[in-house]
Amino acid sequence: MENLACLNGELMPVDQARVPVWDRGFLFGDAVYEVLRIYQGCCWLEDEHFARLRRSLAALEFPPIDLDRLIARMHRTISVSGIEEGTAYIHLTRGVAPRSHAFPRPPVPPTELIVIRPYEDSTVARLRETGVGAISHPDLRWKRCDVKSTNLLANVLALEAAHRAGAVEAILVDADGLVTEATHTSLVWVRGGRLEATPEGPMILPGTTRGFLLRLAAEVGLPHAIARVTLAELTTAAEVLLMGTTIEVLSIVRLDGNQVADGRPGPIAARLQDAYRAAVARWLAPEPV
Ligand SMILES: Cc1ncc(COP(=O)(O)O)c(C=O)c1O
Repeated sequence: MENLACLNGELMPVDQARVPVWDRGFLFGDAVYEVLRIYQGCCWLEDEHFARLRRSLAALEFPPIDLDRLIARMHRTISVSGIEEGTAYIHLTRGVAPRSHAFPRPPVPPTELIVIRPYEDSTVARLRETGVGAISHPDLRWKRCDVKSTNLLANVLALEAAHRAGAVEAILVDADGLVTEATHTSLVWVRGGRLEATPEGPMILPGTTRGFLLRLAAEVGLPHAIARVTLAELTTAAEVLLMGTTIEVLSIVRLDGNQVADGRPGPIAARLQDAYRAAVARWLAPEPV
């Protein structure tokens, strides 16, 4: 199947899904989302994604939402779609009410959208072999980047600038000249033989893939340190890595047109990617006890 949507509990092809123009997601970007990777029909890091969704909803003071029902609907949509390798897109808005900035009073039911789509890894698999180019770009986002809201205009503009420059991602640089993360992926780098990552906090989204990979890295003998770096410092790193739900681990080998290290993906990226895939395989087919 091409894709399958579940809008407020009703299954339909995505292009038949409609929301009213008074939907607050449409009007204000008053909405949160998650994207999960489906391997062999199963949702990877489901608990982590829904924990983050719960935090996003709480940060935006959404009225109580039945997440158990949402998860059950997601599983049913995956099962009906028959999609084995794909993504699950979850989108919740504060609902439909005549346009007014303040929350609707009394609260209205949220709009709930789930979209299951096939995902094909071969393009990214090739990029993992070659590495990719990135540009730097000012981080113009708001001060709650830890909330996974659909307000993504600053990310959209930065990624568009990257694509126009022939690059695959934009590394965001804050007003102090320190790198935060990328437009839709987390950023980790290697310096002095160890992994380093920006501290969690309001300036970055706590990536589920980054979180899992940093724990996994420690298990395979690659502990990490928390650090902040300037763009110039990042350019001298031994490896610069992007991490995310669909890309998994991807090396940046050119930054603003300058080669990173020897211009090829490094050994730590390969070790992490192999360990990641091995962890997914173990989860899909656990050893009998
Ligand atoms: C700004 C940003 N950082 C990091 C990530 C990576 O998060 P995850 O690993 O949960 O996909 C995303 C994913 O959408 C993102 O939008």
